[in-house]
Amino acid sequence: MKKINAGELNGELGVGEVAERSGVAVSAIHFYEAKGLLTSWRNAGNQRRYPREALRRVSIIKVAQRLGLPLGSIKAALDSLPKGRTPTDQDWRKLSIRWQSELDERITKLTRLREQLTGCIGCGCLSMKQCPLRNPGDELAEQGPGPRLLDPS
Ligand code: FES
Repeated sequence: MKKINAGELNGELGVGEVAERSGVAVSAIHFYEAKGLLTSWRNAGNQRRYPREALRRVSIIKVAQRLGLPLGSIKAALDSLPKGRTPTDQDWRKLSIRWQSELDERITKLTRLREQLTGCIGCGCLSMKQCPLRNPGDELAEQGPGPRLLDPS
């Protein structure tokens, strides 16, 4: 990674610098901006410039997407951050509290998946040793479609 220059230090980056440092394609950054997840301005040379804190936003978007969080929920969380100034630690703390329940739910589901992959998930296949005990005759089908033990929602 190249040395930080004056423009970057005082808080503004070009789209290429945001892409290079965050590991996200320029096209994805334009997409995030088009979806209202990021803002930029144009400098005297009509080039897009981003605040340095855009690196944090892009990084969080990238990780959240990789974890399967929908763009709408990511946007709702980022929209809770103040506009027109760099969010403080306190602002990010508020965001994390707001997002906590959704993240906890996802963690619960991922943990359940990890723990139940070797057993009956209540899907109706009746192919696992545990199925006769946990889903005799596929009685869980009465509760509705899908793996009733893995994802009862
Ligand atoms: S794993 Fe499918 S019904 Fe048990």
